[in-house]
Amino acid sequence: MIRDLARYFLKTETHPVTVPLSILKSLAVSARFGRLTGVRYNTVLRIRGTFEYGRGDLLGLMSNRLGSAGNPPTEIHVPRGGTLVLGDGVRLAKGVQLYCAGTIRIGNNTFINTCTRIYAFKHIRIGNECGISWNVQILDSNFHYFPGIEITRSVEIGDRVWIGSGAMIMKGVRIGDGSVVAAGSVITKDVPPGCLVAGVPGRIIRENVVWSHDRFD
Ligand SMILES: CC(C)(COP(=O)(O)OP(=O)(O)OC[C@H]1O[C@@H](n2cnc3c(N)ncnc32)[C@H](O)[C@@H]1OP(=O)(O)O)[C@@H](O)C(=O)NCCC(=O)NCCS
Repeated sequence: MIRDLARYFLKTETHPVTVPLSILKSLAVSARFGRLTGVRYNTVLRIRGTFEYGRGDLLGLMSNRLGSAGNPPTEIHVPRGGTLVLGDGVRLAKGVQLYCAGTIRIGNNTFINTCTRIYAFKHIRIGNECGISWNVQILDSNFHYFPGIEITRSVEIGDRVWIGSGAMIMKGVRIGDGSVVAAGSVITKDVPPGCLVAGVPGRIIRENVVWSHDRFD
């Protein structure tokens, strides 16, 4: 029994002992957004624009969970005029950076792993049930000007898309439902639904792919 309990404490990511909350930040966010919300310690929240979020999974005691404990911090920046909408059960691992000068919408139960950066100057939509690995970058802008080149174009990622570690999704790209982006790929063109794309630049290497969130561990 005690051994089981100890195992639970060590293994369960959402236990309050292993995932301390920032009490003050949680209170401040709960008061501002009118609902009980847990903000993990070491989470940077700079919200001047619009911010909406769904229900989270912190022990079922609180309705929401924002951010992640540990270094590097999870950072959520929504400057004035920007919009961030997180669906139910969205999980942001440590080191994730969301910068929303435009709009970022992330669908239900999508998981974004460590140190992934999503920078929106126009619009980035990510669907439901997506698995976005670590060190991924999703950008809807070139950031710098070339004469005659559109600097910013919206990005759309469908439902159940898996993006492998270190991949980059560039401006204007649409990725269809159920597709998989191989690790380290740079995606510059649209990806139809159900395709595996790999390489720099990304090319379709398999169609009618099926993947699942199940892991071996
Ligand atoms: C996309 C992926 C799932 C494909 O795995 P797989 O089905 O076992 O594919 P294979 O290794 O048989 O490779 C199939 C082909 O794609 C190529 N390929 C696979 N991954 C590639 C990549 N990241 N970049 C470029 N080409 C790649 C292979 O070289 C092979 O080419 P070939 O047919 O000409 O020999 C895997 O390569 C991958 O990128 N996994 C992501 C892992 C990850 O980031 N995990 C983090 C936790 S979410």
